[in-house]
Amino acid sequence: MTGWHTASAPGKFVILGEHSVVYGKPAVVLAADRRITCGVRRGKRNLLNGEPIEFSRQPHFRYLTRNLRHAVEFVTRSDIPTGAGLGSSAALAASIALALEDMAGNDPDERKLVDEAYGAELAAQGNGSPMDASACVHGGGIGVNIPGTEKRGLWRISRNGRVWNVSDVDVPSMTFVVGNTGVKAPTGPQVDKVRRFVGRSNFASEMIEEIGNVTLSGYDALQRGDVEALGRMMTTDHKLLSILGVSCKELNKLVNAALPYSYGAKLTGSGGGGCMVALTDEPEKVASVITARGGVAYVMGAGSQGARIERSVPDGPVFDIPGFVRPEAER
Ligand code: MEV
Repeated sequence: MTGWHTASAPGKFVILGEHSVVYGKPAVVLAADRRITCGVRRGKRNLLNGEPIEFSRQPHFRYLTRNLRHAVEFVTRSDIPTGAGLGSSAALAASIALALEDMAGNDPDERKLVDEAYGAELAAQGNGSPMDASACVHGGGIGVNIPGTEKRGLWRISRNGRVWNVSDVDVPSMTFVVGNTGVKAPTGPQVDKVRRFVGRSNFASEMIEEIGNVTLSGYDALQRGDVEALGRMMTTDHKLLSILGVSCKELNKLVNAALPYSYGAKLTGSGGGGCMVALTDEPEKVASVITARGGVAYVMGAGSQGARIERSVPDGPVFDIPGFVRPEAER
């Protein structure tokens, strides 16, 4: 197969600060060791994995090809379940954006990639922060609006009066287990739900503020390598997110199952379903209690490399990519 340009990008999991980051509060997110790979080449028709692209169902592809004057063929391969809070949307956007840049003969530029990936995310979910796009483009560990990290600042993005100062943060060696409830919960509606709550209640705004404070304490613990304190902050964050209305019984069940064997556990991503994450020294035990409660467990490596060029074309989807909803393809 000739003429292909291929790139991949990691998923992510949020250890502190989702939702409140949309309001410009601090957050910490880690690149996951699961990726989406995307191959692209000039074509006679716009095709995605051999099928005509339905741009109305594929906002990422619609947005990212908006300036192209020719048709393109895409192939994708994903190790990231969709609608699960693991960054499938941002990873897809980042991998397409980089593959298209390569096809155009441009040198990779992270700042340009993050703008493209964030734009595609907004086209897909309507609202949100550049946190996921930043993690999937840059990889490693990402801090958003964390005072004192300016020396390792990556970019500053502003939108609708909110500002996000994104920086690179160290990721000490830690073990995380992610538990997928299997309940699909796209990000857009969860972000909207919180926006409505914040719009009508000072109490919700106080929760957002409190999540920001907990995130800063957790970040300090992360820097000290104090897993016990970090875990406590993660669990507190989960409680605050529950009060905010973005947990659900399936997530609480997996968090409660994991806690006796973990430093801390919380939902990760937009919630309402999707995944939780536990910080633990007993990954097998946590994985087994998650499985026993009906979840799917992934022992998750953190701090993976960001978007990168790949040599080979992916050989087809494993998980469906965002925009395709065929649950039987999940595993
Ligand atoms: C989703 O991974 C994280 C949210 O904070 C939304 C966003 O930041 O865009 C819920």
